Amino acid sequence: MTTPAIPQAGSSPVLAPPLQRWQAWQALGHDLESLLLQPRAQPDFLSRIQALARTLDRLMVEDDNLGVFEAIRISPDKLARYGVLHSLHTAVVAWLVASRKEWSVERRRVLVQAALTMNIAVTSLQTTLALQPGGMQPGQQAQMRQHPLEGMRLLQSLGVGDEEWLDAVAQHHEQPKGKGYPMGLETCSEMADVLRTCDVFCAKMSPRAGRVALLSPTAAAAIFRHRSANYFGATVVTTLGLYPPGSLVALGSGEQAMVLRRTPNPHGPLVAMLTDPSGQPLPAPQPAVAGTARVAKVRGPGQDAGLAGLFPPEVVLAASA
Ligand SMILES: [Fe+2]
Repeated sequence: MTTPAIPQAGSSPVLAPPLQRWQAWQALGHDLESLLLQPRAQPDFLSRIQALARTLDRLMVEDDNLGVFEAIRISPDKLARYGVLHSLHTAVVAWLVASRKEWSVERRRVLVQAALTMNIAVTSLQTTLALQPGGMQPGQQAQMRQHPLEGMRLLQSLGVGDEEWLDAVAQHHEQPKGKGYPMGLETCSEMADVLRTCDVFCAKMSPRAGRVALLSPTAAAAIFRHRSANYFGATVVTTLGLYPPGSLVALGSGEQAMVLRRTPNPHGPLVAMLTDPSGQPLPAPQPAVAGTARVAKVRGPGQDAGLAGLFPPEVVLAASA
């Protein structure tokens, strides 16, 4: 299906701003892929990853709902390109936490750079593991256990000198009271703490071989139970809300819908209706604000993850353009 566009008389079609930004998010994912999969082949690695972090920051400032839509929505790519997309989506959630905590723009950008590169030593192994049924082989386990320190060393060799960035990568699997790895530190840096929490949340939101992705409220509840994510976990959940953009919801009158944008009413987001009240797919997604005089409020999470693929994301987003 082609990307919807706003027709412009006498010129080539111009995409509506949400769709332009959507394309920018997709380009960001592809650029990140080439950097993370072959970092040593990039002579200008440092300036390129910094440029990607600036782009992500700009896109989030312009429309953070769209960034969250990209991070939360269920898509086959989340499995097939797990290693890269998991880092990108963790960076989106980390950006939200930094903004909520009113970190400086400079520090927020360092956090995004750390999130994008936290698994640089195992990007393709992470995709292999996501696709692989069963547990890890011993060799894979050893690689995973060392990847925070390996990642830090690799980044140093690629020209990264920022201590906070390097520490965050080296410590992003450490946990309080020495329960993390690889160093078993008693405490870790604040930035590593944010990374770990966002990493856990995004991992729970992603599919694995033989397991569908958790729907957003389930992942939110799970993060509260995760012992290593208790401090920033609350920030992640309150910032995203129960029904963040990209999540599937059921309305009180029976329609199944995808959230496009948060509103001040937590049960009344802007949604794209996907089905009629009996659950039959609509011919095209229909925009609606839930919880208004004519549209029921959100009753709870959607029940059918398969509806996420009913329409291409560009078509769902065009419903609100
Ligand atoms: Fe990691």
